[in-house]
Amino acid sequence: MIHDQAIADLLALEADDELLEEEALAGRLEALEQLAFIYQVLRAGAPNAQAYGARAAALRTRLEALNQQYYAQVRAWLRSGSATPAAIRDLLERYSHYGEADGAGLHLDYEPVDALVDGVLQLERFGGLATVHHRDIVHLEDTPVRVLLDLVDHVPLEAGDRFYDLGSGLGRVAIIVHWLTGVPVCGIEIQPDYCGYSRRLAESLGLTQVRFQQADARESDLSGGTVYYLFTPFKGNILREVLARLRTEGQQRTITICTYGAVSLVVAQEPWLRAATGEQPHEFSLGIWRSR
Ligand SMILES: C[S@@+](CC[C@H](N)C(=O)[O-])C[C@H]1O[C@@H](n2cnc3c(N)ncnc32)[C@H](O)[C@@H]1O
Repeated sequence: MIHDQAIADLLALEADDELLEEEALAGRLEALEQLAFIYQVLRAGAPNAQAYGARAAALRTRLEALNQQYYAQVRAWLRSGSATPAAIRDLLERYSHYGEADGAGLHLDYEPVDALVDGVLQLERFGGLATVHHRDIVHLEDTPVRVLLDLVDHVPLEAGDRFYDLGSGLGRVAIIVHWLTGVPVCGIEIQPDYCGYSRRLAESLGLTQVRFQQADARESDLSGGTVYYLFTPFKGNILREVLARLRTEGQQRTITICTYGAVSLVVAQEPWLRAATGEQPHEFSLGIWRSR
């Protein structure tokens, strides 16, 4: 019976003390998914099953609270200024399969590390709206953290570099790249609510080297950048215009362009860029391009 199985699974989760350990985030996230299913099954059952349903809901609340507690601790550590890039990297890798021999550099899924970052940045609190609409503007979607681990491993970001995220959403990429490298970063975001949120976020974390411009990337200040990142922020004419602006930047100094998503296939056609790796461009791998 499906109810008996759900009750057995619930009892196993209730007895699993490892889930209560502070750093057992990945296990808790998996258990929470399982509990959501268990709860649905039991809620629709007989009164006895429904009583177990209430226990499933209580366990879910408890595990969610532990996650929030863990996010708050990590946030306090990051705000304290004592976290080194290497220590931050260790933390992120603990919740990612990045680097394991698994998919030829493809980054297809979100992982526990993404939930960790969202929790630390409290992104679920964002209640704003996208108010600027245009057929070529792509909606907000987050780069998986493992793409950024790949980026910092393959693109030197050192003193003197300046990283731009074109279409920076709520500021996640800009903040993570800064945490992992220490270089100054600038996010450019067309939606006023998104940009306002990311500015407040950086300020609340004490990140003075993380800046955001509220602007259309076609008109924004792109000067001084050495690395520009695009996770398919726009397409069509907007993309063409922004690439023309980047080309002008690339005529003044060598720049690196990093791409993820469908934009990689368009950037691959730009004659003024050469691929920095021998790989064929792919939507779900990190593209790295240098100006000639
Ligand atoms: C796919 S999301 C990427 C968010 C973030 N860069 C990341 O990778 O997690 C694309 C973002 O680009 C923004 N955007 C779209 N068109 C833009 C434009 N013309 N200028 C600046 N930002 C733009 C969208 O509002 C959205 O926040």
